[in-house]
Amino acid sequence: MPLPPFSTDEQYKTPLFDAMVALAESRKVSFHTPGHKSGKGISTRFRKFVGPKIFSIDLTTLDEVDSLQKPKGVIKEAQRLAALAYGASRSYFLINGTSGGVHAMLATACRPGDTVLVARNAHKSVVTGLILSGASPVYFSPAFDPSLQLAVNVSLDDVKAAIAETPEARTLFLTSPNYYGLCADLGPIVEYAHEQNMTVLLDEAHGPHLRFHHRLPESGLDAGADLVVQSTHKIIGGMTQASMLHANADRIDLDRLAQNLRFLQTTSPSYILMASLDLARMQMATEGKKLLGTAIRLAEDARERINHIPGLQCFGRQDHHHLDVTKLTIRVRDLGLSGFQVSQKLNTEYLVQAEMADPFHVLVIISIGDRKQDLDRLVDALKRIAEDSTQHTSDHPVTNPGLPPVPGHRVLIPREAFLADHRPLPLRESAGKTCAEVVTIYPPGIALLVPGEVITSETIEYICRLTDFGATIDGLDEGNALIRTVR
Ligand SMILES: Cc1ncc(COP(=O)(O)O)c(C=O)c1O
Repeated sequence: MPLPPFSTDEQYKTPLFDAMVALAESRKVSFHTPGHKSGKGISTRFRKFVGPKIFSIDLTTLDEVDSLQKPKGVIKEAQRLAALAYGASRSYFLINGTSGGVHAMLATACRPGDTVLVARNAHKSVVTGLILSGASPVYFSPAFDPSLQLAVNVSLDDVKAAIAETPEARTLFLTSPNYYGLCADLGPIVEYAHEQNMTVLLDEAHGPHLRFHHRLPESGLDAGADLVVQSTHKIIGGMTQASMLHANADRIDLDRLAQNLRFLQTTSPSYILMASLDLARMQMATEGKKLLGTAIRLAEDARERINHIPGLQCFGRQDHHHLDVTKLTIRVRDLGLSGFQVSQKLNTEYLVQAEMADPFHVLVIISIGDRKQDLDRLVDALKRIAEDSTQHTSDHPVTNPGLPPVPGHRVLIPREAFLADHRPLPLRESAGKTCAEVVTIYPPGIALLVPGEVITSETIEYICRLTDFGATIDGLDEGNALIRTVR
């Protein structure tokens, strides 16, 4: 759905950052927090490494620089510009990452006991948000694509089937793009959900750049989602922890949303993080198309070169239409090495750090911060690893584990399971018990267990098989041997 264009002239403004610089340069004497007093009290080692200037803009809530809790000055204006750039009714700066935004979205859209349809490729912050809100999730899973050897995102048919099975749900929670840049075709999904009188919440942690280049998949706001949260820090110019939450006003109670954000966020937000949001928005709105165009060209060129290396494959738009092409998912299994091994070699032998590995792939994120020489290093390192690998014998699995088994039935909602008494049990002895944790594995990045579900022997087997492959498991203790269960 086309949105009104924003005025690019106005988008050059950075009201929050300007006010911070003006205050720092005013040389006022500070008798307020932070205690380091513009860096004069900071550790010398710290100041020597980063330089003195950064501390002069590490400010606190003051009239000159406004309040995140009750914005009425430069933060309000910076958020207004962000809303214009992203095509939202309102935008909010977040200093506790997308996790905080996910919590605020669920707290705003759901009351305790409300049913929420949740695509199961959700981040663990969705489960913690469900715990906080007391909502009752009904999960549905995306399909596994045998040619990509990955779980793709949810389809319109998946959503239709889930809604038909749970007609009482008034909220739909989606995650798109997924970690691998595979996006849902959001337009028709949001349209259908709205026809069913549902509110659509979108975790777009990996998509704060989508709106600014036509060769990227449609952004959630353009598709009409009601609340969208993005990790500005993951993909564009935000500093770590800096995210944004955007609202379309039609179905959202904005007062309640603002109240929830005040409730969930610190009263001492980092101005440096917020300034990075002000500047990242300006950068995207004024030169995002050019910067992203370069990143896309670099990624496409690297993808082509990687696909010429014997033993490596890297899928593209021709394999999955709704792909964020700046993500390179490099399949390495034909080398006789696992993704973990290749990632380790890249890091320790070639000083190239990937975003993530799974048993079959190495995932690389290309962004506006990359240069051709960085990509050359990646491709050269991959070439060398591929050449060397002819001497290796395979010690990784030949078959992809595919989608996780169907989860056990739910006996408690996440909040009840979380608040109940817990006890850790050896994973292998936990069949039939009620899980009190969220357990996730990449791939497929789909939660295997969530609090309140009965643990099945099939899921235990699946987890053990993936552990043997060296998969990254989130949510188990003691070297993946213990699981937290409801007593
Ligand atoms: C899909 C998804 N959603 C949410 C988050 C949480 O984001 P943040 O680290 O900004 O809190 C992540 C982090 O990896 C993620 O991958």
